[in-house]
Amino acid sequence: QIRAAITGVQGYLPEYVLTNEELATIVDTTDEWITTRTGIKERHILKGENMGTSVMVTAAIRGLLKKTNTAPEDVELVICATVTADSIFPDTANVSAYQAGLVNAFGFDLNAACSGFLYALTVGAKMVEAGRHKKVIVVGADKMSSIIDYTDRTTCVIFGDGAGAVMLEPTTEDVGIIDYQHHGDGSGEKYLYLVAGGSRKPATVDSVMAREHFVRQNGRPVFKAAVTGMTDVVSKVMARNGLTNESLNWLVPHQANIRIIQTISSMLDFPLDKVMVNIERYGNTTAGTLPLCLWDYESQLKKGDNVILTAFGGGFTWGALYLKW
Ligand code: ACO
Repeated sequence: QIRAAITGVQGYLPEYVLTNEELATIVDTTDEWITTRTGIKERHILKGENMGTSVMVTAAIRGLLKKTNTAPEDVELVICATVTADSIFPDTANVSAYQAGLVNAFGFDLNAACSGFLYALTVGAKMVEAGRHKKVIVVGADKMSSIIDYTDRTTCVIFGDGAGAVMLEPTTEDVGIIDYQHHGDGSGEKYLYLVAGGSRKPATVDSVMAREHFVRQNGRPVFKAAVTGMTDVVSKVMARNGLTNESLNWLVPHQANIRIIQTISSMLDFPLDKVMVNIERYGNTTAGTLPLCLWDYESQLKKGDNVILTAFGGGFTWGALYLKW
């Protein structure tokens, strides 16, 4: 049986670091509030004219090619999970593939907010398992600073910019992507959304003046739904695959709030030292958080380790994916 294995991972973070101290000079907040309520100390921001998400995606892809010793012409498919494409169209996957010299690849974007990378990894794995594709790049990337209102302290402290990319290749060894369970619930839109800028309400001078093209979030219900959703889906995927808290080596949760991560770990009775956490340095990079965690923890991952990735985000969307590293 052919499975899709992750054979390389690469992250990219823009140079500029926005600290809690600097945010406290922009909005009415403190390092103490942000640290205790979210676990975030700093986040990276992509600055400069004409700098879209593709800049970060291209950099991550280039780094991945180098690291995995892959010739650009050998890559067949790029799937880019993002909610902050360079523009509504064309998609960021093809723009980035072109910039990285992937002359034989086709690509498309996938939008599932913070669960985007999880869904994209699932789609990429299925394309490999089908026996049709041998080198597939899956990217999770967002320039959240482009849709965040830096006068709204309830959202601007949470998000950051970043990208992470993985290479998927077929394997017949006992590693790779094994199982997943994903969910969607469009009724969650009322808690996490953008009013304008899409086809329902295209941006106008009035909507821009009313700051309707920025993310709006009602944090508390999202927090609760995130905890319930991720705990439930991780338990189900563990049970179905005969995994216990002992045999599961790593849990990789979406990095939205350290308190969400701690609550999930405690509800599952799963030790925090086997949970990947890097929210302190990057904040919530939306589709970027999961590959950036794998990138940061790469040296601690051993071949054959049982790993579950889980995410929850706008939509609502949520799910969990089980792989052997
Ligand atoms: N600095 C200081 N005070 C603040 C700040 C801030 N940055 N933000 C809010 N406050 C105040 C509020 O005004 C409120 O004051 P009040 O009690 O006087 O009204 C108080 O702090 C508490 O506010 P809450 O909203 O209840 O704070 P909470 O502990 O819930 O934390 C947060 C807010 C961080 C947003 C949390 O609810 C959360 O993490 N929610 C989930 C986020 C998430 O998972 N999103 C999904 C992924 S995102 C995506 O898909 C794109």
